[in-house]
Order: sequence, then C-alpha cells, then structure tokens
Amino acid sequence: MRIVIAKDYEDMSVRAAMIVAGQVCLKPASVLGLATGSTPLLMYKKLIRMHCQAGLDFSEALTFNLDEYLGLSSSDEHSYHWYMNHNFFNHVNVQRENIHIPDGMAQDIERECREYDRKILGCGGIDLQILGIGTNGHIGFNEPDIKFEATTHKVKLDLETVTANSRFFADFNDVPRYAISMGIKTIMHAKKILLLANGENKADAIYRAIYGGITPEIPASILQLHQDVTVIIEQSAAKDI
Ligand code: GLP
Repeated sequence: MRIVIAKDYEDMSVRAAMIVAGQVCLKPASVLGLATGSTPLLMYKKLIRMHCQAGLDFSEALTFNLDEYLGLSSSDEHSYHWYMNHNFFNHVNVQRENIHIPDGMAQDIERECREYDRKILGCGGIDLQILGIGTNGHIGFNEPDIKFEATTHKVKLDLETVTANSRFFADFNDVPRYAISMGIKTIMHAKKILLLANGENKADAIYRAIYGGITPEIPASILQLHQDVTVIIEQSAAKDI
C-alpha cells in the first residue's frame, strides 16, 4: 500500500484527480470504478475542470459505479445515478452508453446483480477503482459482516450507515435500508485501487483498514492484500497514523 497524507481536502482531491487523469491519459479506454459520497466530490470537480480547461478526454472511458440504493429511481435526487449525473457525467464527455450504475429499481435484483458482474467482466475488469470508506470500514456498500461477499449483491444497510447517510435526506425514515453493491472480489480484481478518506470521523476506520487484522468486520481491511493500492488520507483522517 502506498499511503499519502494530504494536507487538506483540497490536496487530497487534487492528488486523486491527478491519478484518475493519468490513468485516462495513458489508457483512454480505461474502465473506471467510481464512488459516491461526500469524499470524492471535490475530486470530480477537479476532473471536470481538467476536462473543460485542459481537454482531459473521457470519450473512450467506461465507468462502473460501486453501488446504488434500492427503491430509488435514477431521477430521484437521492439516488447515486442522480449524484453521478449531477456531479460528474453531465459535465464531461463520458459516453452515456459507457456509464454503468446498478439499477435500484430492477424488478429482479439477483438478475441485475449477475448482469452487472457479467458486464464488468465483459469489459475486462476495472482498471482503476476509486473508493471512499464508511465510518464502519465499509467500501461500496459492503457492510461489516462475518464473511466477504464476493460478487454484486443486495445489502441490508447497517444502522451506522443509514445514520451517516441520513444527512442527505430530509427525514431519517426516507433513507433506504437496502442497496445493491459491487462485491469484494470484483473490487479486489481491479488492477489499481485508490482509497480516499477525509475527515476526523474516518480516522478510526482508516487506521483499522490499514493496520488492523484483515477481517470482514472491517471490509476495507481486505485491501491490504491488493498489490496496487494508493491510500490518500486527509490530515485529520490520518490523526492515528
Ligand atoms: C457511502 C457509500 C460509499 C462511500 C461511503 C462514505 O455510504 N456507499 O461508497 O465511500 O459511504 O461516504 P462519505 O464519503 O460521504 O463519507
């Protein structure tokens, strides 16, 4: 693992954007694994700026998002579809047909999960996977468990996750309790992984992910076994490191 302590959120975001930009410059048809949440927001802004001002080209890139809430349509502003369109896709030249996000409204969830994995494999797997981390150590929506879920699957969200994400919803009861998440095997098959952590509330999770035992109780800890992980930690999140 390469561990980089960034001096602030801006610094973390610039470094992350440069890694994504480098990936797309070296391999225009890269398969990018994308994350949502507050953490990568500024990274997306930086990438949009690189696209608009320096011609960073996403026209050949393929994207696969980590997760989506169950029961929210792509036009729901709380969905990760909406987040991605609003915060990234609408502002760069990623081709619509190259964008993949699990369908939270799928009638047949198991089929949706199987198809999602099939599409990722069909594209040759993920070249660069971007990850945030939950306060409970989750990646994507792979929640702490007694085992690692390998493939894309339906998840019951932890109360801690529902509580953390309720800040985006008007009412706690509006927060979906279920989601679809890419599995750990798919994430671990990515050629490169970029893990980002921002804010003091992530300090414990990121410390355990990097230095603790490898356990499904801290899903991010599995990343210790990956051969090409860069972790960029903003200073307050790195207070225990
Ligand atoms: C969310 C997402 C994750 C994200 C994490 C942290 O629930 N499913 O992909 O990395 O929780 O979110 P944030 O960056 O807002 O702290």
